This record gives sequence, structure tokens and C-alpha cells, in this order.
Amino acid sequence: ESLNGEGKYLFPGFIDAHTHLREPGQEAKEDIASGAAAAVKGGFTSIIAMANTEPPVDSRGLVEFVRTQGARAGLARVYPLGTVTKGMRGRELVEMLDLKEGGAVGFSDDGHNLQNSEVMRLALEYAKLTGLPIVSHSEDENLACGGAMHRGKAAARLGLKGIPSSAESIMVARDLMLAAETGGKIHLAHISCRESVRLIREAKERGLDVSAEVNPHHLLFTDRDVDLFNTSLKVNPPLRSEEDQEALLTGLLDGTLDMLATDHAPHVWEEKARPFAEAPFGIIGLETALAAVWQRLVVPGKLSPKRLAEVWSLAPARRFGLPGGTLRPGSPADLVLFDPEWRERITSDSLASKAQNTPFLGQELQGFPTLVWVGGEPVLRGRQLCPAGDGVRHR
Ligand code: DOR
Ligand code: ZN
Ligand code: ZN
Repeated sequence: ESLNGEGKYLFPGFIDAHTHLREPGQEAKEDIASGAAAAVKGGFTSIIAMANTEPPVDSRGLVEFVRTQGARAGLARVYPLGTVTKGMRGRELVEMLDLKEGGAVGFSDDGHNLQNSEVMRLALEYAKLTGLPIVSHSEDENLACGGAMHRGKAAARLGLKGIPSSAESIMVARDLMLAAETGGKIHLAHISCRESVRLIREAKERGLDVSAEVNPHHLLFTDRDVDLFNTSLKVNPPLRSEEDQEALLTGLLDGTLDMLATDHAPHVWEEKARPFAEAPFGIIGLETALAAVWQRLVVPGKLSPKRLAEVWSLAPARRFGLPGGTLRPGSPADLVLFDPEWRERITSDSLASKAQNTPFLGQELQGFPTLVWVGGEPVLRGRQLCPAGDGVRHR
């Protein structure tokens, strides 16, 4: 079968280091198979699944469950994070070496447990034995509490309680201090404000083993976009100011921020239909993020296609030790043929995700993958999914 790639780009498979899949426990929002389908449609051949499920992924058995469900779907590779403590809001660390044996590629919070600085310190210390990073959500819950959007002029105008930038930057500073003190490896998720970028830049200049990520929505929207109380723009950390957005793009271009990641966070429509102050935080991103970044950053020349591949494939592959997307000789062929001309309207019917909480709902986006290979096998042709028969191959 011959392939005409004229006018298209061949990319290493994109890797999303920050995806919430909701299985086990909240399968009405998303399950591993629907999340893996959304991933492939959006050009991601690997996704890293966050551990804040119900229950959190706190045992080798649960790590293996997530991998098995991922392999069964036969679409994107699914790599689980374990959580750092046993049970919800636990204090006792999980058996990290055991979870690594089971296939965990790092450790994250369960939504709360890394608030405790002693738990973070012990987790960094213990994780050194595994060589895996601790993924930090970097938020001071007390400072953020009750807020619905960024604390700034827009929040004041809309009469919504704000989340100050310090709710993030204070925890970023704490995390960097604890990483320096312990020598542990840390990955800072969804950096959203300029103070955090500055702290990370300084830490990297000192040679600290830190990596950091930025979400497309923080590069594409600001708090001013919340004007119409669209809850599909309610996310945590919140959309911040234009100055923050500028600092994030500068950070992504100069290497302070290592990678892009979606923070794909599915919610059921009834919850997102609540008033802005009461709706849950989260935006889905797997099926729209690449097209939106392409249109609004790559096409205008703000981000080169080469840097795009570095920050959304090579960097996460390296940081989390994944095989896919690296294009090393002998590595599995996880590839994406990307058509910059392909246009698609995002609707509840078009989405493979179970959730619809995307700010792009009803809009047409341009630039989509038309052929995706995982482990040398096509899993998307045209825009149709074709799951591998024995998905188990994709380990
Ligand atoms: O918007 C968010 N949604 N931010 C988070 O940190 C968690 C996530 C979720 O799990 O829904
Ligand atoms: Zn988070
Ligand atoms: Zn998240």
C-alpha cells in the first residue's frame, strides 16, 4: 500500500503527559477505552493517566488494571501514574518499587495528599529508589479554596471569587525546595502564572532535576475569555492574565517549560451545566488540543513544528522513560501523519470522548491527523478509528 504524504507532516506520535481517564470509579465521565479513542483521534499515541481516580491508583493491582484496560482498547498506549499514598488523603506511602514493577511511570497526588509537605518530602525521597518523577499539581488548597477563576480584574467585574497566582507559585517554590533538599526528581504539572515560570527558570539555572508542563488552554485563553460564564473555560489552575500567558509562551520557547500536556479532564454535562461558581473544574483536550495549538501558535509562526514535536513527544518520552515517539532506530513506530488542511467541526457526535466540556464545542478547527500508527500498526485511517485486534501487542 503506497502512501501519499504530499502537503502533510509526519510527526513522532504525540505523547500526552497529563490525562484524566476516570476509570476506575467515574466511568460516566470517561473510561480508559473512550479516553484512548479520543487520544488517537487527536494524534496522541501514548497518554499518561493521572492517579486521582476512585479509588486512587495506590496498588500494583490497580496499575496493572489500568494498563490491561489500555491494552485491551488497542488504541493509544496507556501509561499509569500511581498515587503517592495508600487510600484517599492517606499519609502512608505506597509501595513505589512494586507499583513501578507493575508499570507505573511516576507518582502523583490523589487530589489532596501532596498538600502535606512531609508527605511530599518523603515521596521525593522514596521515589529516588525508583528513578521515577513525582508529579505535582502545585496548588495550596487553602489559598485556592472557594475561588472559581483567576483573581484579577475579570473576576472582580464578574463578581466571582478569585484564585490568586500565589496559590500555585507558593507550592511551586515549596516543591522546588523539597526537590533540591532531597535530590528527588519532580515534574510540575500545569504551570499557569509568571511567578512560577520565574521560579522554575532559576531552579534550572542552579541545575535542579525539574521538568514542567504548560496546558494549551493556558496559552490560548485568558481570564477575559470567561466573560460569558462558559463553564467549559472553568479549569484549575484557572485561565490567567495576558502577562501570564506571555510568560508561559516565552518559557515554552526557552526551555523553562519542557512540555505541552492537555490536562484532559472529562466531566458529565449536568455538572458542567451548573452555574459557573458551582461547576467542577476541567476542560477536555485530547481531540482538540493539537488542532488548536496548530492553528493559533504554529500557523502564525509562534511555535515551530520542530519545537511542537520536541515539547509534545520527545520531552515527555524522555522524562517518563516511555518507548514511543522517540524515533530512535529500533524503537516502535508510533507515528502521526498530520494534514494541516483537514477541517472538522467539534460536536457532541464527533467526539470520541464521553465528555463534551470543551470550549471548542460547535466550532470548526483545522489541522488533524489522518493516519496514526501505534507499534507499527495503523489505529486511525482517514478519521476512522481501527483498534488493533489483539491490543495486547501495545505494551
Ligand atoms: O481542572 C482540573 N480538573 N484541574 C485539576 O487539577 C483536576 C482536574 C480533574 O480531575 O477534573
Ligand atoms: Zn491538577
Ligand atoms: Zn490534572
